[in-house]
Amino acid sequence: MKHIKIFDTTLRDGQQCPGAGMSYTKNIEYAQLASQINIDILEAGFPSASAEDFKIVNQIAKMYAQKTSSPKVAALSQLREDQVKQTIDALQPLIPSDRAILHVYLPVAPELMQASLGNYANNKTQILADVSQMIQMAVAAGCEVEFSPEAYSQMAENFDFTTELISTAVAAGATTINCPDTIGRACYLQGDDYFVNHMNIHADIIKSRFPSREINWSVHCHNDFGLALDNSMRAVFSGPATQVEGCFNGIGERAGNAALEQCIMYIKTFGNSQPNESFQTQCRTRHIRKISDFVSQHMLDRQPHWPISGDNAAKHSSGGHTNAILKNSHVYQPFPPREVGQSISFVFGPLSGSNHAQSIIRKHGFVCENHERQTIMQFIKDFHKNRRKGLTDEEFMQAYFAYRSPIKVSAISFETFYDEKHFAMQAQVFGADEQIDIVCKDSDTATTALHRFLSERFEPFKIQSYRSESKEPGRHADAYATISIAVNDEFYRGKAHDHDIESAALKALIDACNQYLIAENYGIKNEQDDYPIQVGMRD
Ligand code: KIV
Ligand code: ZN
Repeated sequence: MKHIKIFDTTLRDGQQCPGAGMSYTKNIEYAQLASQINIDILEAGFPSASAEDFKIVNQIAKMYAQKTSSPKVAALSQLREDQVKQTIDALQPLIPSDRAILHVYLPVAPELMQASLGNYANNKTQILADVSQMIQMAVAAGCEVEFSPEAYSQMAENFDFTTELISTAVAAGATTINCPDTIGRACYLQGDDYFVNHMNIHADIIKSRFPSREINWSVHCHNDFGLALDNSMRAVFSGPATQVEGCFNGIGERAGNAALEQCIMYIKTFGNSQPNESFQTQCRTRHIRKISDFVSQHMLDRQPHWPISGDNAAKHSSGGHTNAILKNSHVYQPFPPREVGQSISFVFGPLSGSNHAQSIIRKHGFVCENHERQTIMQFIKDFHKNRRKGLTDEEFMQAYFAYRSPIKVSAISFETFYDEKHFAMQAQVFGADEQIDIVCKDSDTATTALHRFLSERFEPFKIQSYRSESKEPGRHADAYATISIAVNDEFYRGKAHDHDIESAALKALIDACNQYLIAENYGIKNEQDDYPIQVGMRD
C-alpha cells in the first residue's frame, strides 16, 4: 500500500479566490475540522501577507502543537529573506515536533518568469543561489521545506533549468517537490509534453543524483478545463506523486483547485485497481460532508449536484430510480453515501412514481394500499401541479390529507331569519353528497354551532385553541384561522383561509376534524398494519 499524503490548501489557495476569505475565528474552526478528517498537511496561509495572516497561521500552529498528533502545518512564502524569516516565526510552535513546513515557490514557465520576476528572471545563476540559501535557512531553523516550481506544467524550454532548480532545492534540504499545473491547462493528450511525463523524468533524475534521498513528489492542479482531478490522479497512478494538493469543494484561484473530497474518494475507490501497486490515504472519509458543508457555508456556495458531497449526490426523485433504490440502495449510488457522511434521501417530484409516494405516506404513519397508490400519487401530482421542482414531505402530506379528507366542503352560505341564524354547507362526507343545514341557537357563533354538529355526528371533541389573523389590512384581506381540537386526549390542528373571517374559522374547524378522521380511519395503528420501508444499505 502506497500512502498518498493529502495536502489541504483550502485556507491558502482556497482563500485566494474572490469571496472565499474567512475571519480569523473561522480559519481556526476550519483547522479543527481538517484535523478531524485527518489530512496529512494543512497549508494554513501566507504569514507574510499581513499581520492577520501571520496570526492565523501562528494560532493554528500553537493549537496543533498542543496535540500529540495533528496534521503538519505548511505556510507559503516567496523566495525573500524577510518573508522566509517571518514564515519560520509563524510556524515556530510546531518546529520542535517536526510538524512545520515552509513552502517556497518560484515560477518556471518562460512567460510567467518574465512577467513575475522581471530582469531577475534572466539571472538564473543568482536564482539558483537564492533558492539554495533560502531553503538552507529554513532547514537550519528546523522546518521541512516544500519547493514548488510554479507553472511546472508550462515549463516548455525551461525543462533543464527546472531540473537544476529542483536539484538545487533538494541539495539544500527540500524534501517535497510540488509540481503545479498553475493555469489548469495540462492534459494527457499533450503526450511527451504532459507534465506527468516530466514528473517521471524529474523523479528519475533526482533519484540518480540523490540515491539516498526519499523525495515526496507532490501534484497541485487547477481546474480551468475541469481536469484537476484527472491530472492529479494521473500524477499518482501513472506518475511519481505521493502527495496531492487541493481544496475541499474544489475552491481556489479562478476555476479552483482539485477537489480534495474527489481525490480522496477516487483513491479510496480505485486505489486497489492497479495490478502492481495500491494506494490509500489516511483520511476519515465520513467527515467529508461536514467539512464540505463548512466550506460551502463560510467560503463559497456549493452547487447541489457537486460530486461526492453535494446536496443532490445521494438524493433521488425519478420514479425508476427511487423504485429500484427502495428495493436495493446500491443500484444508483457509486459508493455507500454513509462513507462520506451522507445518506440517501428522496424528493417527490413530477417524475416520481407510486412506490415512492407510498413509502412517504407510510413513513408518516398513514395507509396507502397497493391498489390505491397510483390514484393517490396522481391526485398529489395534480394538487401540486405547478411545483415542478419537487415537494417537501410537508407539502406532499398536505395533498395526501386533501385526498383522504372525509369532509369535503364545496360551498358555505349564511342566512338570517328573524333572530335565527342558519348556515348551509354543500359537502361530500365519506364520498356521499350532502346538504347540511345548521341552525345557530341563541348566542351561538357559526363555529360553536358547527362544533356541536360535528361532535354529535362523529366523536365529541373540545376546541383547545382558536386564532385568526389577517396578513394585510383592509376589509377584503384574507383571514387565516388556526383551530386545535382535542379528541380522546389526542390533538389535531386545522388551518384555513378565506376572505370572510367566519368562513375561515369554519373551514379550519372542518380541517381539524378531518385530521382526526384521517388519523382514525387511515392511520397505521399497529405493527401488523405497519409496512417498514426497506432501504437496504450496503454496509
Ligand atoms: O498554483 C500554483 O502554482 C500555486 C503555487 C504557489 C504552488 O498555488
Ligand atoms: Zn495553486
